[in-house]
Amino acid sequence: MRQYAIKGGNPLVGEVEIGGAKNAALGIIAGALLTDETVEIENVPDLRDTAVMLEALKEVGAKIEKVDRHTIRINCANILTTKFDNDGVKRIRGSYYFAGSLLGRFKEGEVALPGGCNIGSRPVDQHMKGFRALGADVDIEHGCLVTRADALVGSHIFLDVVSVGATINLMLAAVLAQGQTYIENAAKEPHVVDVANFLNSMGAVIKGAGTDVIRIKGVEKLHGCHYSIIPDQIEAGTFMLAAAVTKGDVLIKNIIPKHMESISSKLLEIGCEVEESDDAIRVVASKPFRHTQVKTMPYPGFPTDMQPQIVVALGLADGTSIVTESIFENRFRYVDELTRLGANIKVEGNTAIIEGVNKFTGANISAPDLRAGAALVVAGLAAEGITVIDDIHYIERGYEDFPEKLASLGAEIKLVDSDEELQKFKFKVV
Ligand code: EPZ
Repeated sequence: MRQYAIKGGNPLVGEVEIGGAKNAALGIIAGALLTDETVEIENVPDLRDTAVMLEALKEVGAKIEKVDRHTIRINCANILTTKFDNDGVKRIRGSYYFAGSLLGRFKEGEVALPGGCNIGSRPVDQHMKGFRALGADVDIEHGCLVTRADALVGSHIFLDVVSVGATINLMLAAVLAQGQTYIENAAKEPHVVDVANFLNSMGAVIKGAGTDVIRIKGVEKLHGCHYSIIPDQIEAGTFMLAAAVTKGDVLIKNIIPKHMESISSKLLEIGCEVEESDDAIRVVASKPFRHTQVKTMPYPGFPTDMQPQIVVALGLADGTSIVTESIFENRFRYVDELTRLGANIKVEGNTAIIEGVNKFTGANISAPDLRAGAALVVAGLAAEGITVIDDIHYIERGYEDFPEKLASLGAEIKLVDSDEELQKFKFKVV
């Protein structure tokens, strides 16, 4: 069984480079379907989820060329089918973006309903409502989201909830619709803006991405492009928290500090030093943490994808902290695992009440989903003794070279593949 073995206690010190944004990459890879010309994408993170998206495109006839580890050329001139339902597509969330781009280019598509992290109910009603507003017939049949339209016509779409997925999916469909589309109450996350910028570099006309009204003027055809994906806000945030909870000093490089503001301000509030420069942030933690309150919100609020990581830090803060999860209703499943490390947290509905403790101690725990898994790694880095984390496949969906990057900052962490390797690790570190 593949596990991360961690010997906690080392402060993280040094510099780390952040990779491309996973959740932008998923929309952008699906967007490559919108043209029969070649798109070259740089800064694609080398992750399970991006590999699944590329494999799905390859299976239906796309030509995928890996220029180097993070640069990929995609040509979707000869697409054999508009049905995307392989096992990989069923497992990940981002595959629903194929629905938008298939509908945009081919005016039809059949995409297996997405899986992804089990963090609460994850309906696709807003995606369906938007596709219908553009003139498509939309149904769920045999586990697939099935769309078909004689023509796509621009429309006013008001999203009932702020949804990253629906906003991106509707942009993908509307760029090739006739006339003007308005997406109101749109998500403003950096990856929404990045997908819009990518589509614009293919010849789309999208304005207002990053505000809550996105205006799209449909064009007849999109062309090839060369595009570089923005840095991953959540990978960067996870390293900021790892630096903080290990009482370290880390320069997190290749990021956009503006995207990190909600996280930086919470770290300042609890007593860390945060220094921003043009494309880097340094986090230094030397004092005990103060308690605080956090509520997850759509961007520019505190990201739900950073909620487990901040809970880990507050688990070690003085006093009582309150964290409210307002995006997904089932995102505290990791708290039982954190309790095994000694955290004192009570969950009531969508609120975690955290009584800070002096220290965590290592234990055997499991990653329940991607971000919670990363947070448990961060907790293990701060814990006294050895922590072993199971189900790391979740973490590998969203963090490239996670143990290697942490080890380069001085963490004692290793991916182990057998009992023997685990024993060797324990023998080496004690
Ligand atoms: C995206 O999920 C991300 N996934 C998630 O990241 C992230 O947690 C989430 O946005 C919020 O930022 C991808 O980009 C692949 P939403 P998504 O649609 O698009 C409700 C990670 O760890 N909703 O913005 O699925 C929904 O239930 C993952 O990288 C509807 O009601 O999230 C939720 O309460 C985990 N109907 C809220 O909106 C819909 O049709 C926000 O969801 C769609 C969503």
